[in-house]
Amino acid sequence: MSRRIRQLVKPLRVIETREIPEDYDITRFAGEEYKKIFNLMFKTFYYQFREGVKRGIKGFLLHGEPGTGKTSLAYAVARELGKKFRDTYLILIDASDIARPLYGESEMRIVEVFEEAKERAGYTVLLFDDVESIFMSRGRERIESWHIAQDNVFFHMLDELDTSRTGIVATTNWFELVDKALVDRMYPIEFRPLDLETALAIAERRCMELGVRFEKVKEEICSMSSLPRSAREVERIVIKHYIEKLERLEVS
Ligand SMILES: Nc1ncnc2c1ncn2[C@@H]1O[C@H](COP(=O)(O)OP(=O)(O)OP(=O)(O)O)[C@@H](O)[C@H]1O
Ligand SMILES: [Mg+2]
Repeated sequence: MSRRIRQLVKPLRVIETREIPEDYDITRFAGEEYKKIFNLMFKTFYYQFREGVKRGIKGFLLHGEPGTGKTSLAYAVARELGKKFRDTYLILIDASDIARPLYGESEMRIVEVFEEAKERAGYTVLLFDDVESIFMSRGRERIESWHIAQDNVFFHMLDELDTSRTGIVATTNWFELVDKALVDRMYPIEFRPLDLETALAIAERRCMELGVRFEKVKEEICSMSSLPRSAREVERIVIKHYIEKLERLEVS
């Protein structure tokens, strides 16, 4: 890579897991299903790191509607791993980290991501967020040859992955667009729309944090013709009530 191009490539975003904010602590999330998924992911990585399982499960492909907590869960898992192992890092990768204007550069960037994980002492979780925009399905028309080359490099790196030190989390809203070769290499988990109980639990916690009366929010949610489908939608309802409260606020 020439020096000029190297200067244009932004450095990878590497977060020390102990520095992941408390907001992402699993105790702050609601929903039995959500906690179950957390447990499966955390225990898999914990076990593979602790026991030195080199050819274990590469990682998880979290798929489901926007705002259902896929990205947050990856942070929560990484945060928890940071409590068990010293030197644990979360590396964030999205399309803007991979997409490169010049032929061959994207592949190099992918290799760089995996090298970064390999070279670091300690453990790493690689989070490929909104993975469908990085790795498109080959079956689609108009797929470009550079894309295939890029995907092949990614799959090769995945096949070589040492799971005793690194785990992968990929997220997507477009499961059907994700390359089957990726789905096959990962453990897919679906994030389903919220049930009423979970929606209310999320709302209650958020109301407490913002000093909003939960009863009013609950009333609104229960009277909706279609339930909020994601935590983000619940959040939006609580924020609406919060804003109304602020508008009524008397400044002394
Ligand atoms: N189970 C939950 N309990 C409480 N809050 C939650 C829960 N799941 C998600 N949230 C909150 O909902 C918001 C959206 O979550 P997040 O960004 O992780 O969703 P996502 O599935 O990654 O969305 P997208 O597909 O748009 O990237 C965040 O503020 C997160 O803290
Ligand atoms: Mg997300």
